[in-house]
Amino acid sequence: MTAPLPPLPPTLAWRGGLDGCLELLDQTLLPHQQRVLVCRDVAAVADAITRLAVRGAPAIGVAAAFGLLLGVRNLAPVPQALRETAREVAARLAATRPTAVNLAWALDRCLAALQRENTLAALFAEAQAILAEDQTACRRMGEHGAGLIPDGGTVLTHCNTGRLATAGDGTALAVLFAAWAMGRRFTVLADETRPLLQGARLTALELHAAGIPVQVLCDGAAAGLIARGRVHAVLVGADRVAKNGDFANKVGTYGLALACAAHRVPFYAVAPASTFDPRVADGRGIPIEERSADEVLQLGGQRLAADGIGACNPAFDVTPAQLVTAFVTDRGLLRPPFGPAIKALLGPGR
Ligand code: MRU
Repeated sequence: MTAPLPPLPPTLAWRGGLDGCLELLDQTLLPHQQRVLVCRDVAAVADAITRLAVRGAPAIGVAAAFGLLLGVRNLAPVPQALRETAREVAARLAATRPTAVNLAWALDRCLAALQRENTLAALFAEAQAILAEDQTACRRMGEHGAGLIPDGGTVLTHCNTGRLATAGDGTALAVLFAAWAMGRRFTVLADETRPLLQGARLTALELHAAGIPVQVLCDGAAAGLIARGRVHAVLVGADRVAKNGDFANKVGTYGLALACAAHRVPFYAVAPASTFDPRVADGRGIPIEERSADEVLQLGGQRLAADGIGACNPAFDVTPAQLVTAFVTDRGLLRPPFGPAIKALLGPGR
């Protein structure tokens, strides 16, 4: 018998009032250790985002909003410096991870709040609103997507898109949690998600804790299982969706979409409206984060390849819109053609 897993602390939480702190569950240590990082300054938040202690597009947006507050709150007695310093701090936070648009989106919202009212209280209220709205968005994505999950089927997912990637229940995993809660029964195949193993370490942990049957598989096994009819739907998250529906997500997503198209398996991307970027026309405009070669060349601190060998480590890839069956958003399902559907989602003038 294996011991039951202890419940996880929240992925992120603000403790106290304006002089409080941001608590982040350090995801680099999961599933074996639960350590909460207490962030009292912007450097701690920027570092946590950079090294993926907090990760997942919506979660880094929320963390950055509170990070901005931490970066400017000592300026309270000098209100005229607030907006200018906030812009500098926001630029620093935005540079930590370039692909997920939720980060820049949350920081832009905070800067706009300061334009309306140049006070720390306004900034604090905006960060709290971003967190609360993300929780609601997760619930709605779950509700809109649950009916897509085939009862008795097998669903494949990639990276981690659950409670650890958001302030709420997740994006793609929120759909699975909601489908399970409404009585659908299914099995999940979780891609291990090289190089940092978010699938093996985080997704499997979350699904297992929720009582949903899950098996981890090597990323390279997915296409073969899809070809053999062993997968009935693929659900992934997104880090940035362009105006035409091309979207970036964890590297390996594009290959899954190609395999699904070749074998007529539905391929769904699940993302809140905050992940859709009205400033990017198509996938060519999405910046792709390149991370350290060490992430590929080492596992658990042990070097895998011979000395002197390098590695290429793009953290994301772009899936063309024509490979997507539907987007599940907090405002409903989007079906092709995605251009007009995304325009309607984002509202007039965007
Ligand atoms: O590098 P990560 O772990 O932040 O990548 C996360 C993903 O790719 C998720 O699929 C994505 O953020 C969307 S779902 C929250």
